[in-house]
Amino acid sequence: MVGFLDLHSHMLPSVDDGAKDIEEMKKMMELAYNDGIRAICFTPHFKLYEFEDEEQIERYNAHINRIFNDACNYASAEYEDMSLFLGSEIMCHSDVAESISENFCKNIANTSYVLIEFHFKASFYDIKNTVTKLSRKGFIPIIAHAERYSELVKKPARVTELKELGALIQINARSVTNIRFGRVARFIKKVFKKMLVDIIATDAHDSSHRTPILSEAFEKISAKYGEGYAKKLFVENPNSILNKCSKE
Ligand SMILES: [Fe+2]
Repeated sequence: MVGFLDLHSHMLPSVDDGAKDIEEMKKMMELAYNDGIRAICFTPHFKLYEFEDEEQIERYNAHINRIFNDACNYASAEYEDMSLFLGSEIMCHSDVAESISENFCKNIANTSYVLIEFHFKASFYDIKNTVTKLSRKGFIPIIAHAERYSELVKKPARVTELKELGALIQINARSVTNIRFGRVARFIKKVFKKMLVDIIATDAHDSSHRTPILSEAFEKISAKYGEGYAKKLFVENPNSILNKCSKE
């Protein structure tokens, strides 16, 4: 299938632990394109504790903007029907809503959606509290790779609670295809069965291991839960988020 949208990607080179250089980004983009992906939102990590001061954050953001422009130029020359967007994957910290409001970290493509990650052992209280705070400030939190948090895996019903507070749930494509046994596999099965998942994304970091591939997971979800639901997760839901973007 052609026309997938990938809302979680570390393809932007030399900014985090994703693509190490422009050549790696090119390889990744080719893989993504050949897999049927036609829109990618780059979401480099933002971890407040890695910065010493605001000036360093500003330099980091200026650097990201420059590289993003280069990536857009490359994509438009090579792939005329590929769209690129910019966001960030924000590691939760106590002033996360303020950091977003002050533009230290980027929401998804200038929309009110924010991709937020937690420590894998984060307490449910912290996750819930962050979702509540962000929702109150008018943001729509997308919980990155929800299958990674032990406090959710332990009690999948908590996912419903987070959704009621305004969160969207993102699961990694590789988890869908590669995790077959154990607690996480059972968690994934439960949340899909109850149709609690909103978005599947690649969380791609390279061209050999954590790759930008969605088609395999799409086939699996289609076969198990129906093509209609699969299309929502891989195309319609991410598309409706990106359609809300006001381009700079
Ligand atoms: Fe990520």
